[in-house]
Amino acid sequence: MHDDIEKILYTEAEIIAGINRVAGEITTAFLGKKFTVVSVLKGSCVFASDLIRRIPIPLELAFVSASSYGDGTLSGQLDLNFFPTDQEVRGRRLLLVDDILDTGRTMHSLVSAFRERGALEVLSCVFLDKPSRRAVDYQADFRCFEVENLFVVGYGLDFAGEYRNLPYVGALHPAVYDNPERTKGSPEPSPQT
Ligand code: IMP
Ligand code: MG
Repeated sequence: MHDDIEKILYTEAEIIAGINRVAGEITTAFLGKKFTVVSVLKGSCVFASDLIRRIPIPLELAFVSASSYGDGTLSGQLDLNFFPTDQEVRGRRLLLVDDILDTGRTMHSLVSAFRERGALEVLSCVFLDKPSRRAVDYQADFRCFEVENLFVVGYGLDFAGEYRNLPYVGALHPAVYDNPERTKGSPEPSPQT
C-alpha cells in the first residue's frame, strides 16, 4: 500500500496539529450551544473520530451517507441514502464533517437537505479543501488543510474503496489511478464518499 504513494502531503503529527487548531475554533464557535456533529460516511470517519475527541464541550454524533457514482477520481452524481432521523435534525444546530471539499457538490447538497428538513443551523468542517476544483459556490466554515489539485488518499480518503487506513495523507502515483484494472468499477452508485 505504501508503495503506491508518490509523496506524503501531511504526516500523522501534522494532521493532529491541524485538528487541534480546528477543534479549538469549533469549541469557541459552539460554546454554550447544543450541537450535533454529522459525520459524512465513509470518508470522514477517521477525521471525525479524532476531531470530536478534541472538542471538550457537549455534543451529539450522527451519520449521513451520500453515494457518488463509480470508483474513479472524479466526483459524479450524488444520492443521499442514509439520513439521520427527524428528531436528530429538526431545530438542531449541525456541524457537517467531511473528508474533502472538492467540487463542493456533496456539501452543497447535504447542507440544502438538512435545511429543508428543519435544521436550525448547518455549518461545515472539512479535513481537506481543494478550492481549485470547485464547481459550485460553497466554502466550508472550518477546514484543516488546503491541498492542490492532486488525487489524495489516506486518513479516511479512498481510491476505489482502498487506502482509507493509511495514517497519513498522500498523493497516489498516477500509474495507480490510470490503471484500468483498478478503475473498472460498476456504474452503480457505491456509498464510498
Ligand atoms: P465533491 O462533492 O466533489 O466536493 O467531492 C466529495 C467527495 O469526493 C469526497 O467526500 C471524496 O469522497 C471524493 N473525493 C474528492 N477528491 C478526492 C481525493 O483527492 N481523494 C479521495 N476522494 C476524493
Ligand atoms: Mg470517497
